[in-house]
Amino acid sequence: MKHLLSPLDLSVEELDDLLNLADRIVADPKKYSHCCDGKKLATLFYEPSTRTRLSFEAAMLNLGGSVLGFASADSSSASKGESVSDTIRVISCYADICAMRHPKEGAPMVAASKSSIPVINAGDGGHQHPTQTLTDLLTIRSLRGELGNLTIGLCGDLKFGRTVHSLIHSLIRYENVKFVLISPKELRIPDYIREDVLDANNIEYVEVEQLEDVMPKLDILYMTRVQKERFFNESEYLRMKNFYVLNAQKMQLAKPDMYVLHPLPRVNEISVEVDDDPRAAYFRQAQYGVYVRMALIMTLLEVEVN
Ligand code: NCD
Repeated sequence: MKHLLSPLDLSVEELDDLLNLADRIVADPKKYSHCCDGKKLATLFYEPSTRTRLSFEAAMLNLGGSVLGFASADSSSASKGESVSDTIRVISCYADICAMRHPKEGAPMVAASKSSIPVINAGDGGHQHPTQTLTDLLTIRSLRGELGNLTIGLCGDLKFGRTVHSLIHSLIRYENVKFVLISPKELRIPDYIREDVLDANNIEYVEVEQLEDVMPKLDILYMTRVQKERFFNESEYLRMKNFYVLNAQKMQLAKPDMYVLHPLPRVNEISVEVDDDPRAAYFRQAQYGVYVRMALIMTLLEVEVN
């Protein structure tokens, strides 16, 4: 049985198949509207979420299946002290597949080891967020036509931002991808990504603090929120939270075909005036998230539609 715990659980070929399936779903969603009839998805969310949980639920409903689950640790037996291992054994009796978000890094992996149904990591602490990466890859491929030959700016909280960690892991597998890592020095990419992923694979990257200087070079600008909930110290968060604010003036420095992505939620890092720029792709990205999760559920449940 397959789980999705890290973006690398899918080979490049499997990922291509999944993105191609997502493209077919985008082209003709009705064709897939009954392929998971009678199947159940459990969403086990121990941390807040809007898009990830609801897009998983929308995806399963679009496929004809049903959904059950909880949206916070407080409303589950975790508040009584139940372990993730015990919870997943029980959920395995109720559902055919589950998506889990947890503040502890590695929790979905522990769950997968005890589960008799596929487990999808829907975000574990500051570690990984593989389904956001699938969303990002489908968005980039749809907008740019390919995943290689791109200069990608990753901007904001590169230390705690799990979406950035997962995206880097995935994108280094494509030809001629260059990264511009834009962050304050306090929020630089962790060493285990810089050294073990970027340096170890001879990937071209630079680390800078100023967004304006690098804007003209970028094909994609991936903005991120400063991850308030992972800071140990409130004053440090307050000092960092408005470090970057993308506005219409800064957008003038960018190429006419540079797209802005953001996993959302946005706080202040993208001014609302940017929303009307045709290069602002973050709401389209949220829509792609539903299609790619439909493709993922079908793939993990081994459902085929001819
Ligand atoms: C992201 C997450 O949860 O890591 N959100 C999401 O799933 N779309 C990004 C964030 O919370 O900043």
